[in-house]
Amino acid sequence: MTMMEINQDIMQLKAHLERQRELKNPGVLKPKHDPAKELAAICTDLGECQRCPLHETRNKIVFGAGDPNADLMFVGEAPGGDEDRQGEPFVGRAGQLLTKIIAAIGKTRDQVYIANILKCRPPGNRNPEAKEIATCSPFLDRQIEAIQPKVICALGTFAAQTMLKTTIPIGKLRGRAHPYNDYSLLVPTFHPAYLLRSPGKKKETWEDMQMIMKLLV
Ligand code: URA
Ligand code: URA
Repeated sequence: MTMMEINQDIMQLKAHLERQRELKNPGVLKPKHDPAKELAAICTDLGECQRCPLHETRNKIVFGAGDPNADLMFVGEAPGGDEDRQGEPFVGRAGQLLTKIIAAIGKTRDQVYIANILKCRPPGNRNPEAKEIATCSPFLDRQIEAIQPKVICALGTFAAQTMLKTTIPIGKLRGRAHPYNDYSLLVPTFHPAYLLRSPGKKKETWEDMQMIMKLLV
């Protein structure tokens, strides 16, 4: 596809998304509910969660952070060591790169919402297990429903494959917007931890961020 065709494609997707959002919620979308209140209720329901064995080894639950009214949401895999200690998503080295990526699209962390598939750190940063995802992901689903972001950026193989229910590699999933639900498009990109190991891939991530900016205009 040429750049012009890709742009036309994005504009068609964007128009489709706007129609969907309008149909689901005629008139104004946001004032119908209170995202901040809903997020607080979800956090209360999660409580000091002991639904899966990860509670035995975690320090802090990492619920998510940012603007409840955000148009753009980032979803990572699971907290790492720094996040587990602080209770905040993406605050370690990968998180600092994510903060720079967010700045590159003219936003601050406070203007987006950041969360993970899993709310607790897997010991030694091992991959999340299917049962853990099944137990934890309803909370992410509820966060997404509360925020209703226009665009969800899935960070890395794990988040992208989990959210799109596919085993297609991230290199093939990224570079386009995928329909996700009635409110949101999903744009997969490389995980910032992967970019730290493979800085050559930053160019692709920048392309994905430019697409996100077009979708949000
Ligand atoms: N990696 C993730 O996927 N999420 C975090 O919050 C931190 C690192
Ligand atoms: N492997 C990952 O886990 N994430 C990426 O973004 C790329 C490769």
